[in-house]
Amino acid sequence: FEKTSLHLEVNGVPLNLSVEPRTTLLDLLREQLNLTGTKKGCDRGQCGACTVHADGLRINSCLSLAVTNEGKKITTIEGLSKGQELHPMQEAFIKHDGFQCGYCTPGQIMSAVALIKEGHAGSEMEIREFMSGNICRCGAYPNIVNAIQEVKK
Ligand code: FES
Repeated sequence: FEKTSLHLEVNGVPLNLSVEPRTTLLDLLREQLNLTGTKKGCDRGQCGACTVHADGLRINSCLSLAVTNEGKKITTIEGLSKGQELHPMQEAFIKHDGFQCGYCTPGQIMSAVALIKEGHAGSEMEIREFMSGNICRCGAYPNIVNAIQEVKK
């Protein structure tokens, strides 16, 4: 496949890239940019492990062709912390044990940050509804909700 050029800002760094048109944003992040915090679970839009932000909105990066993000600002889990300082949502997940195996955690946290930003943390039901695209096979849901409720305050 012929490569095409792509301009992205990833975690605040402007990049000029060359990608195959069929490359997903998820594969670009993990394989070309070595940002492996974003996880590949199902690779078909069903688990949420690959959740990142594109211009501040959450997306499943496995469903998004990299080239369709031309000019966008992408934030991954690696871009949430500031130096050694974790994002409040990361702190809250640690405090409330919002994970067991941790595989879904980057996606959970990216969704949770979007949820607060978009004002969907009104009630526990609203939180669960907004987070329903992020599957946790260990079943850490109650602790994840607790973490989100703490950050919301
Ligand atoms: Fe993208 Fe599962 S890997 S939703």
